[in-house]
Amino acid sequence: MTENHLHAKEKWFEEKGIHTDFQNRMTYGEYLCLDKILSSQKRLSGHHDEMLFIIIHQVSELWMKLILHEIKAATDSIQKGNLSAAFKMLARVSKIQSQIIESWDVLSTLTPTEYMEFRDKLGQASGFQSYQYRMIEFALGYKTHHILEIYKKDQELYDRLNEALHAPSLYDVSIQALSKAGFEIHPRVLHRDYTQPYEADPSVEAAWLTVYRDVETYWDLYELAEKLVDIEDWLQQWRFRHMKTVERIIGFKMGTGGSSGVNYLKKVLDQRFFPELWVLRTKL
Ligand code: HEM
Repeated sequence: MTENHLHAKEKWFEEKGIHTDFQNRMTYGEYLCLDKILSSQKRLSGHHDEMLFIIIHQVSELWMKLILHEIKAATDSIQKGNLSAAFKMLARVSKIQSQIIESWDVLSTLTPTEYMEFRDKLGQASGFQSYQYRMIEFALGYKTHHILEIYKKDQELYDRLNEALHAPSLYDVSIQALSKAGFEIHPRVLHRDYTQPYEADPSVEAAWLTVYRDVETYWDLYELAEKLVDIEDWLQQWRFRHMKTVERIIGFKMGTGGSSGVNYLKKVLDQRFFPELWVLRTKL
């Protein structure tokens, strides 16, 4: 490069006010730890399409991290009686969910033939072992303590999951909000064992029914309920698209995690997080 070229280049940056000296300044890549993130796509088969498979899982896990971050803060806000702050976070969760659902369109470009070329490299690894997915289930109130068994090899992770298992869920604190608003909630619900999956209760159903029948009086609780329904609705749509994508790619083969595969994923679709909020729709 000639001296004239060099000068022109410096002038170009200078005119635009662009920073070029990063000897003592943090760069974009450093802030985001891109060296770690972008060197974490280790294809075990070296197969072209394994890159898509890895990235789609990693992107989903990153979004799950944000979902957990938002649900946790929303749960704290509801506990403190600050519903408006929670609404903003829960709305963000729904938007993230719609993003993750879109990713099934990208994964559907993976054909059964392509997947079979590297599937055996996965061994017994499966999304079934996604601990963030289980933490989301826990945070929403679907507590399955037996799942902790999978994480025994990592004590720190096991402890984190155990803590999440014992914590009140988003639905638990929403029911407490009903109680604080004067609704009579049965003590067996208010003092329930948080390590167990939530079970529908007539006192909770009656409270939500009153909210939906008089939305003007109970606007905040009504808005909260609809935010919860949004989240469950999107989660079910994620599950449905996962199940159909899996059927498209592996048919009815067993999963690498050891389950029956698509039949297992179909069964999971029946599981509900906020049962009363669905039942009341028939009763209104
Ligand atoms: C080729 C693509 C995929 C196939 C063939 C596949 C297959 C399966 C199968 C068969 C199961 C049932 C458990 C088992 O026996 O393994 C499962 C569970 C699961 N997968 Fe996938 N999956 C795919 C992509 C993904 C992606 C992109 C994610 C995103 C993180 C994901 C997350 C999960 C989760 C969280 C479960 C547990 C579901 C539950 O227990 O409710 N999977 N997958």
